[in-house]
Amino acid sequence: MQTIFSGVQPSGTPTLGNYIGALKQFVDLQDEHDCFFCIVDEHAITVPQDPKELHHNIRSLASLYIAVGIRPTTSTLFIQSEVPAHTQLSWMMQSMSYIGELERMTQFKDKSDGKAGVSAGLFTYPSLMAADILLYQTDIVPVGDDQTQHLELTRNLAERFNNRYGETFTVPEIRIPTVGARIMSLQEPTKKMSKSDENVRGFISMIDPPKTIEKKIKSAVTDSDGIVAYDVDNKPGVSNLLTIYASCRGESIETIVKKYEGKGYGDFKAGVAQAVIDLLEPIQEKYYSLIESEELDTILDEGAEKASRMASKTLHRAQKAMGLGR
Ligand code: TYM
Repeated sequence: MQTIFSGVQPSGTPTLGNYIGALKQFVDLQDEHDCFFCIVDEHAITVPQDPKELHHNIRSLASLYIAVGIRPTTSTLFIQSEVPAHTQLSWMMQSMSYIGELERMTQFKDKSDGKAGVSAGLFTYPSLMAADILLYQTDIVPVGDDQTQHLELTRNLAERFNNRYGETFTVPEIRIPTVGARIMSLQEPTKKMSKSDENVRGFISMIDPPKTIEKKIKSAVTDSDGIVAYDVDNKPGVSNLLTIYASCRGESIETIVKKYEGKGYGDFKAGVAQAVIDLLEPIQEKYYSLIESEELDTILDEGAEKASRMASKTLHRAQKAMGLGR
């Protein structure tokens, strides 16, 4: 069985973009693969976090993973900071990474642009991400397309390590969904939907109540020609709503375009809102029943234990290959 690893940052409540680009794929893939799904809290602290909020967001994300359909009996669900091998291998990966290649990372450029007090952690973030993936001898990494450059670096680091110190790591493949690899902001449809957007109308949180979802979709930016058609360059807002609709309902974009032929944006937006609500309502119900439960702690304890066993094995192998320790 091939191994899958992926992670989500607990830096806010996940959005519909996180679900369509990543979480949905995790659920679809879990039966056929040996899966490790991580709450990457050490990535989140590369920008300042309020400790109470971070603590809440970690639990919240763990509940969401299960609420969307990840089965903790077969998949390993764990918190990154509870498995020390991640930061240990990360140091080794930092020592393998070149400053030039880290400087080329567009996410670093975007997140640091014009900011004072940019942390060294934000700069070496991709080396930690490589460690996350390589520790589990991962074959496939399901992610949204904003992670492509980080995955390319991970592959380069694995190959560099293997060439220098002998075969140690599996070189992972990226897996990006064919529909919904990049869900856009509802307010600026040429920009990625992000949980850290200051404009809350730009994103749909996985725990937004139905009325909020309706309002946000009603106020989504479209265009003035009133035709429901898929054309990313000329109609980015409508195309984004079509992608959301198709992903939530599991239907093709063509089917939805046909359904709204001759109808206006009012009807179409009502349909999109209903598709999102129908998807999120049962997820939210499960989420609220889990978040304060002891069951969640048991799942995370067992997950950390299982992940640690696998991660330590790979870490020791890499340390030995590099000549570290006795
Ligand atoms: P993060 O927390 O920003 O996002 C989690 C996952 O959601 C995807 N995603 C999207 N997909 C489609 N449309 C969007 N608007 C959208 N926004 C986010 C992301 O591509 C990602 O798959 N660096 C990672 C976390 C990470 C990780 C890893 C991922 C750390 N270590 C190892 C995979 C493997 C991140 O910041 O994701």
